[in-house]
Amino acid sequence: MTAGGVRTGVATPVAPAPARRRTFLTFAPPQIGQAEIDAVVDTLKSAWITTGPKTRTFEREFAAFVGAPGALALNSCTAGLHTALATLGIGPGDEVITTPMTFCASVNVIEHVGARPVLVDVEPDTLNIDPRQIAAAVTPRTRAILPVHYAGHPVDLDGVEAVAQAHGLTVVEDAAHAIPARYKGRFIGSGPNPVAFSFYATKNLTTGEGGMLTGAPELLDKARVLSLHGMSHDGWNRYSAEGSWFYEVVAPGFKYNMTDIQAAIGIHQLRKLPRFQARRREIARRYNDAFSRCEQLQIPAERPEVEHAWHLYVVRLHLDRLTIDRAQFIDELRGRNIGTSVHFVPIHLHPYYRDKYGFKPADFPVAYREYQRIVSLPLYPRMSDADVTDVIDAVTAVVTRHRR
Ligand SMILES: Cc1ncc(COP(=O)(O)O)c(C=O)c1O
Repeated sequence: MTAGGVRTGVATPVAPAPARRRTFLTFAPPQIGQAEIDAVVDTLKSAWITTGPKTRTFEREFAAFVGAPGALALNSCTAGLHTALATLGIGPGDEVITTPMTFCASVNVIEHVGARPVLVDVEPDTLNIDPRQIAAAVTPRTRAILPVHYAGHPVDLDGVEAVAQAHGLTVVEDAAHAIPARYKGRFIGSGPNPVAFSFYATKNLTTGEGGMLTGAPELLDKARVLSLHGMSHDGWNRYSAEGSWFYEVVAPGFKYNMTDIQAAIGIHQLRKLPRFQARRREIARRYNDAFSRCEQLQIPAERPEVEHAWHLYVVRLHLDRLTIDRAQFIDELRGRNIGTSVHFVPIHLHPYYRDKYGFKPADFPVAYREYQRIVSLPLYPRMSDADVTDVIDAVTAVVTRHRR
């Protein structure tokens, strides 16, 4: 031992090297099987690779799975949210109430249509938007509420709908995390509200990139036109044997269509979804069992009236019972070869929104406080039982080593 370059002769105990997995456990890789690979190859070898018969099949099967009145396949959840707001005619001068505890896409789309995002704080147990605070934020300019089913735990939809009905507002649901999730027995996406799902690479069902908008058929008919340049007929309708070359542009729409290559993957992912979900639930249960015994940790809520999609497993640190903060906790897990993430940096802390609307961190005290102690742990169907044990052992070792 040296102090200032001089040997002191005093032996300092060396902390034992942390137990470490041999390989890095990535946070959320997809589970793609031979069926998806074969379907993509089959599509590539076919005469039609963009929006066409496979996309229509995927829409039909997705709608049937969640019990939706209709479904429109798109190239992202962001596209679904944007198209929904545009179809509803929401624009400059309008306000849309949403949550700070979300990915930027939920709020960016409100900016895209020129409306004003109005943030309200979240409920402490689920980190979902708080219906009581929505009611207090409604103004004559409010047109819609955009709740996010955070981590896959459904929002208090009865509470949100009650406010919407009292003020004549539309509810546009961000269900990026919520396939499949149920509220009071019914799948998210089974009602008439516009509901946008994500098939991004890390999601419970992936098409690489992709999304689905479900909702009332009249709304989806308009959204379908807007999602493809505002053209009256899509490519399949124009180029197939029964099609005609003629189309008209009825609105300056977007380029948001899903390709048949993506749909080919989605069809097989959807068929595997019940199996994927059973595995997610099993892993969440193992985490809950282990972490509910650690007084430094708070496990995620699952209210009795919901079925959680378990897209994310967000554990919360009791920082007052630890000598390390969230950043050090994440570093320690990385040192043990466990990948993690944080969902999310609250919207009001991002420079664009902070500066444009003059937000202060404490404006949404629950979101701000909880943000500092949330960590998302790996949770995906291809995790082996040994992987799950490694995460449990690593988390338990870190909190035990640094308990106060
Ligand atoms: C809550 C939430 N909303 C929307 C999105 C956007 O989804 P996409 O990447 O499919 O546009 C995400 C993506 O991760 C998300 O987490």
